[in-house]
Amino acid sequence: MAASSTNNFIDLLEKFLKILKEENAFNQFGNQPVIQFRHPQYLQKIMSISLDDEPASNSELETVIRQTIQFSAKTSNPHFHNQLYAGIDEYGLIGSWLTDVLNTSQYTYEVAPIFTLMEREVIQKSLELVGYPLMPEADGIMCPGGSISNMYGMLLARHKILPSAKNSGLFSLELPLACFTSEDSHYSILKGANWLGLGIDQVYKVKTDEFGRMKVADLKRLLIKARNDGKQPFFVNATAGTTVLGAIDPLPEIAAVCRSESLWLHVDACLGGTLLFSEKYRYRLRGIELSDSVSWNLHKMLGAPLQCSLFLVKGKNTLYEANCAQAKYLFQQDKFYDVSWDTGDKSVQCGRKVDAMKFWLMWKAHGKIGLTQSVEQAMSCAEYFLQRIKETAGFRLVQSHYQCCNICFWYIPPTMRDENETSHWWEKLYFITSEIKKNLILEGSLMISYMPLPHKEIGNFFRMVVSCQPPPTKSSMDYVINEIQKAAINL
Ligand SMILES: Cc1ncc(COP(=O)(O)O)c(C=O)c1O
Repeated sequence: MAASSTNNFIDLLEKFLKILKEENAFNQFGNQPVIQFRHPQYLQKIMSISLDDEPASNSELETVIRQTIQFSAKTSNPHFHNQLYAGIDEYGLIGSWLTDVLNTSQYTYEVAPIFTLMEREVIQKSLELVGYPLMPEADGIMCPGGSISNMYGMLLARHKILPSAKNSGLFSLELPLACFTSEDSHYSILKGANWLGLGIDQVYKVKTDEFGRMKVADLKRLLIKARNDGKQPFFVNATAGTTVLGAIDPLPEIAAVCRSESLWLHVDACLGGTLLFSEKYRYRLRGIELSDSVSWNLHKMLGAPLQCSLFLVKGKNTLYEANCAQAKYLFQQDKFYDVSWDTGDKSVQCGRKVDAMKFWLMWKAHGKIGLTQSVEQAMSCAEYFLQRIKETAGFRLVQSHYQCCNICFWYIPPTMRDENETSHWWEKLYFITSEIKKNLILEGSLMISYMPLPHKEIGNFFRMVVSCQPPPTKSSMDYVINEIQKAAINL
């Protein structure tokens, strides 16, 4: 780097923290808009997005940095409930920055010595939380997100039933392999079936009950159907915390079916895995320890910086055997140190971003006790919110009971409250839900998502998500109710 460009960089870096502060990038008070929403054409007009031949000056860069903060969604605002992630744990953020400053890949011990130790420690602690055996009897890896973690589960299941597929592909297959997942589960199972060459048509969608939990009787019915269809069942995905309703499938019953039919049981605990930290709520995941593999996103409810996702699996060397390609240029076996510390060949990736330090530093700084407290605070706020929705005129729950941190509901404006609830009335309510959302976004007062559940023949409703970050309070819950009422005043 030329001296002048180094100086420019240092100048800008020194200003950077000041800019973050001045622009309120981390403001957790909720006294600023959660978003200043602008349409793309406006942003293209006012921002210098184009990439040019000549370098930009520091002052141009500063302007773009400020505008980026100004027009981005402020996920650290307590009124951001739009996604399953929210806010950012401050120690996780330091871990993330340190990781980025040191900018290395997680694949070998020699380029990531400390991060290798940290990843091993977070895997061991997480195995313990789930109730799996510890390493080396079980293993794990940090993945770029829950979708990929779920695909690891599918790959390992396939490798167990058909190890020859690793070399010869699926040509040796006599019967198509069939997967089972609930109709409320995450779409990544479909994507995994596509990526693994199984085909989306081999995914059987198991019906769920009124709370969104897999019906075990329907799983049994579909297993028989798949066999009658000439397919070989091999993989069941159970969800602990579904994306919309936060439902937790009946894990012990599903595990019993899988055991008796010799099927791989994967638990997608991307959302609900965080309840494992709480003595009060962890019973809801009872049976997770009976599974073969688990996905868990620390970047969802717990508030680790994106992305921070764990895949855990029972069995010695399972991950390595299914994934290794033994590249000689990178995983030399004659290195001067103990190469069993090189974790890269367990992964489908080559270069792998370091995600462990974020979670490691959060755990180190808060202790398990601190993480437990923040999960219990989030859950108690979710329960408070549920109660408020039950008691406040005009609000109606989509279902009466919730197992995780999602609460789904409608707001019925006063003008509609005494009307007959015909199909036309419901269509109007679905439309009004999207209108309320629009008003909230344009006002910048609240970000909360809405969605339909077509397989349950339910149209748009709000999904409130209560996360650990920024620490929720009763008043931040009350705020959501008040803002929705306000946004609906003229509807
Ligand atoms: C239950 C569940 N599993 C998996 C995922 C995928 O996680 P990611 O977005 O990290 O790929 C999601 C995402 O919302 C989810 O809700």
